[in-house]
Parts: sequence; structure tokens; C-alpha cells
Amino acid sequence: MTTSNQNLLEKIVSLCKRRGFVFPGSEIYGGLRGTWDYGPTGALLKKNLKDLWWKDMVQLRDDVVGVDAAIMMNPKAWEASGHVTSFSDPLVECKICHQRFRADKPDEIKEHEQTHADKKVEWTEPRQFNLLVKAYLGVIEGEQGQIFLRGEITNGVQVNFKNVIDSTRVKIPFGIAQIGKAFRNEITPGGFTYRSREFEQMEVQYYIKPDEAEGKKWFEYWKQNRMDWYLSLGFKKESLRFRDHADDERAHYARAATDIEYNSPWGWQEVMGIHHRADWDLRRHQEFSGQDMSYRDPETNESYIPWDIETSAGVDRSMLFLLLDSYREEDERVVLKLPFKLAPYKAAVFPLLKNKPELVAKAKEIFDSLRKEFMVAWDDRGNIGKRYYAQDEIGTPYCITVDFQTLEDGTVTIRDRDTMAQERIGIQEIASSLKERK
Ligand code: GAP
Repeated sequence: MTTSNQNLLEKIVSLCKRRGFVFPGSEIYGGLRGTWDYGPTGALLKKNLKDLWWKDMVQLRDDVVGVDAAIMMNPKAWEASGHVTSFSDPLVECKICHQRFRADKPDEIKEHEQTHADKKVEWTEPRQFNLLVKAYLGVIEGEQGQIFLRGEITNGVQVNFKNVIDSTRVKIPFGIAQIGKAFRNEITPGGFTYRSREFEQMEVQYYIKPDEAEGKKWFEYWKQNRMDWYLSLGFKKESLRFRDHADDERAHYARAATDIEYNSPWGWQEVMGIHHRADWDLRRHQEFSGQDMSYRDPETNESYIPWDIETSAGVDRSMLFLLLDSYREEDERVVLKLPFKLAPYKAAVFPLLKNKPELVAKAKEIFDSLRKEFMVAWDDRGNIGKRYYAQDEIGTPYCITVDFQTLEDGTVTIRDRDTMAQERIGIQEIASSLKERK
């Protein structure tokens, strides 16, 4: 990583802490490696991102329904899905300091070797390390059953395939969407939230006829659909690319896989994956549960186990890359150029002076009316310049100031984050103007 790029990540980490986007997990106890807590602004941004995804995938589509499955599952489901035997990364250990690294990440290994620059580093032979996080359930000590926290959110969808077709009117091709937490005992968490041990995923399992041409068609369809979605969030075109997985790097369930990658400060990195899972999951669940997982075509009466084209995105990674992509330093200010639909606050309302009750009362009235429709921020600290600075740093698209003229003619100034232009509009126009501007 070059120094300027390294600086960019450090700046984002510092901005996230300073402005309440992301804090280290359990920080007052020295943290817990690979965990992060989202603060007031971060929680809003994350929620906006997930809501937009859900709207695009479920609300606006005829062919996708959503579920919200349990994180804890019967451990047999993880045997069936192949995670108990195959969900692993190759681990090597530094023989000098015993720190462990992933053998398939040569850059991280080289970086570590530089910390022992005066010595020749020797490594242990790679061994497979299973990433599933174990947990124990039951109230009697010694009789507790071991379960797994889900390593991917996919399994909760697959085991409900029959429930969904029996309880809805979906017909193949159709998808099942889900958003939720996943847990992995990552060997080397790092890159801020990029590789965490607890993170969130947004996935659609899209079930199709088991047919090569259909598989190709839908795989290409979802690749483009997801790329277009990320571009619609305001990512620069040159920041994103596709990368096909080589034969030896595909997950055990995938017959083809393509990642959408982001040009990050530490090189091109995966944002999300599109995976051709074919009938791997349903067939294995049929085998391990003894339950029929086939689908009967209502028109042809044909019965088959469908194939699954999966789109799987990381919420935390998408958010981290959004922050990196929208970060700008301009003259004297730092701005997050987040699109209106993602910005934590859509507008901020200020009374020009904090010690003038009539200005504060008017501003509060406007704030209370706007908050019914939009997430809005209130700020009466310091001077207007400082307030603009603070709102620019969290990406608030508009700032509304109530001044003495407001009391006379019922107008306010509205200041645009990106152009910094200010204009006067009537109080009654603020809400419609925000809607138009977004
Ligand atoms: N169901 C398929 C699946 O889980 P994956 O490529 O292992 O596939 C999908 O994960 C996405 O989940 C990744 O593209 C990434 O965005 C996110 N992800 C995976 N591991 C992660 C981690 N340790 N920390 C943060 N995000 C992670």
C-alpha cells in the first residue's frame, strides 16, 4: 500500500471514529479483534444501504420474496452444506512469533516478514483451518450441544425452499432474499471493517431450471444487475470491475464465480460475489434431511431440483468502499459526497444564533416538521462555518439556516453540500424542495 493510499484508509478510520460512523468493538475493554460497532451516523448509513437493497431486490421485483431466518440452525444443516468439512482457509504460522496468516494471501505474508527484517522468517506447512464459529446451547453443564453461528446467511434460505414455495405463489425462476449477520473465525481480520469476524450480508438465492443455457443467462443477468446497482449508489465507474474466480479459488459449492471488486487503497478487493451454486445446496439438504427438495412445474408437471444463482454482498464492505469512494478533500473542507438516498441525514437545521430564543423556536418548528418525513440533524453549536464543516464530513446534502430575515419574510437559506451555493426559499417549500433535489 502506498503512503498516500494508506493515509486515505487512516483518514476514513479517523473520520468514522470522530463523526460516529464506526467504533472498535467493545473498545473500553481493549476491543475484540474483528468486531466493529456502528455509531449514530454509521447505523443510519448502514440502514439506508440495506433498505435500498431490499427495495430494489424485493419491493420492486415480481420474482423475489424475502425471509429472515434464524442465525442458529440445527448443526446438520452445516454438515449438509459442506461447511463443516470444506469451509476453511489455509493457515501458516510464523515460527519466530507464532502469529498466524493465510497462506493464500502472499502480500500479508510479505508484510509480516518485513517486521522481522533482521531475521529469516520460516513458516509452518499450510493446514486447513475451519472458519465456522462454534457456540454451545443448553442449560445443563456437560449436556450442552455444540452448534455453529452461521458462516454465510445462505443456509437459512436453502432449508426453507419448500416452505416458501408452499406458502407463496412464486414460480421458477424466482429468488429468495435475505439480509443478516454472518460470523467467521477469520485468521487475519483487517483492513478496518473489510475482513471482520462478525459482519452482515445481503443475498438473493435465485432458483432457475437446471439447464446450462439458463444458468449462463441468469449468471450474466445478475452480474450486470448488481454492477448497475453499485453504480446507481454513486460509485465511480473506474472504481469497480468484475473478476472471475480461477478454478482453484472457488468455494466448494460454486461451479462458477465472479466478484465485483473495488479499487481500494490496498488494491482491488472483493465487494460481493455472484455464484453459480447449481443444485449443490438443495440436493445436499435433500440427502441429509431425507426431505424432498424438488420443484414441480405447474404447467409442464415436470419435477426437478432447481439450480441456484446467488448474489452475495457484504453490507460492511459495501459501506466501507462507499465511504472511501465518496471522500473528498476540497480547499479547507472534507466532504463525503454520498447520494441523498444514502446520506445519514438528508438535511441539517440551524438557528443562526443559539442565544436568540425567537430564532431557536422558529428553527425548532421547522426541524420538527421536517423530521416527520426525513432524517434531519439539529445543530446550534459554534458558528455557521463550523456547522457546515461538520455536516460536510458526514455527507449531509443540505443545511437550512434560520436567521432574522426568516422572522420577517418566512424564508430560510438552503445550502448545497456539493456546490456550497446558498439560496433563499420559503419555509413551506423546504420539504418539496428536498424531495425534488434528491
Ligand atoms: N453465500 C456466499 C458467500 O458467503 P462469500 O464470498 O464468502 O460468499 C460474500 O461472501 C460477501 O460477504 C463477500 O463478497 C463480502 O462482501 C462479505 N464478506 C465475506 N467475508 C467477510 C468478512 N470476513 N468480513 C466482512 N465481509 C465479508
